[in-house]
Amino acid sequence: MRIIGTGSSLPKKIVTNDMLSGFLDTSDEWIVPRTGIRSRHVISDENLEDLAADAALKALDAAGMKPSDIDYFVCSNVVNEYITPGLSCIVAGKIGLSCPCVDINCACPGFIYALDIVESRWKAGKVRNALIVCAEEPTRMTSWQDRATCVLFGDGAGAVVLTGGDNIRGINLHAEPCPDKIWQKRTLEPTPYVTKEEISVPLQMKGREVFRFAVNASTTQVEALLEECGMTKSQVTYYMVHQANARIIEAIKQYMAEPDEKFPSNISDHGNSSSASCAILLDETVRKGLIKKGDILVFSAFGAGLLSAAAIVEW
Ligand code: COA
Repeated sequence: MRIIGTGSSLPKKIVTNDMLSGFLDTSDEWIVPRTGIRSRHVISDENLEDLAADAALKALDAAGMKPSDIDYFVCSNVVNEYITPGLSCIVAGKIGLSCPCVDINCACPGFIYALDIVESRWKAGKVRNALIVCAEEPTRMTSWQDRATCVLFGDGAGAVVLTGGDNIRGINLHAEPCPDKIWQKRTLEPTPYVTKEEISVPLQMKGREVFRFAVNASTTQVEALLEECGMTKSQVTYYMVHQANARIIEAIKQYMAEPDEKFPSNISDHGNSSSASCAILLDETVRKGLIKKGDILVFSAFGAGLLSAAAIVEW
């Protein structure tokens, strides 16, 4: 397929590190050198589905398409207020889609997993035009008393519209299933028969282990995918790396021995917005006019699961 339109939407509330230190034992001096994050957009009175719909409509507008042109819709989301229906159906209802709607929960690499799904369906001849929306509110997953996690995240939605083409050069998906590295639990409704103890636990993360996984998975996958596609680093215009932490991105950059200007970044004013991160970064880079036809974009993302993914996309 070929990406022909992008969009994004962010909550209006901006929370700075200094605002966090008003109620948490943390500081700008601790957060910035360890994460690169200075502020993040945080949901207050918005609903995630409205941000998702807004991002989708912007991507459709950029693509010059109407909702009725879309015949497959994938929504990437870890959590939102609805358990059912899926966020894809809620967003489809808001923007007037009438095509099949699919939800995936692949955490931070969800954008690339969604690309893989639409690309596979297109190759199977089942899709003409697809919409992907990645919408996340990780600030509703962490405890805001846990300084080791809540400072890292921000909310938002990013979207792309795709049509037929051979611009997705390759995709590499990877899993190292170990659910104790990043996890959260919530209780379900009680029944007369449930006898086990159930508790809600906010997001837990083994930060240093996740850090190592992220750098290792990203560099290994990107190198393998470039080789598989018969390409070299010199052909890459931009590495669109999941915006989890500036130090992770720096470590990947060092390993790849590639220059700063090949790594667009918005971590400093977004934090980690899970699967929305790559889609928002793409939209912001497109709207700044920094990407031109023929440019080679390498996407790389990693997160809970543990899952990771890489994709090479020609613009
Ligand atoms: N402000 C001040 N102190 C903090 C803090 C904060 N926001 N968060 C943690 N600390 C403290 C800890 O309590 C600990 O104090 P102690 O030594 O007195 O116990 C100390 O800082 C070191 O904590 P540690 O967790 O070992 O820090 P770290 O150097 O590993 O950095 C992360 C923590 C989260 C920044 C780092 O592990 C990381 O970036 N991991 C990757 C996380 C990530 O990106 N996950 C998502 C991937 S999708």
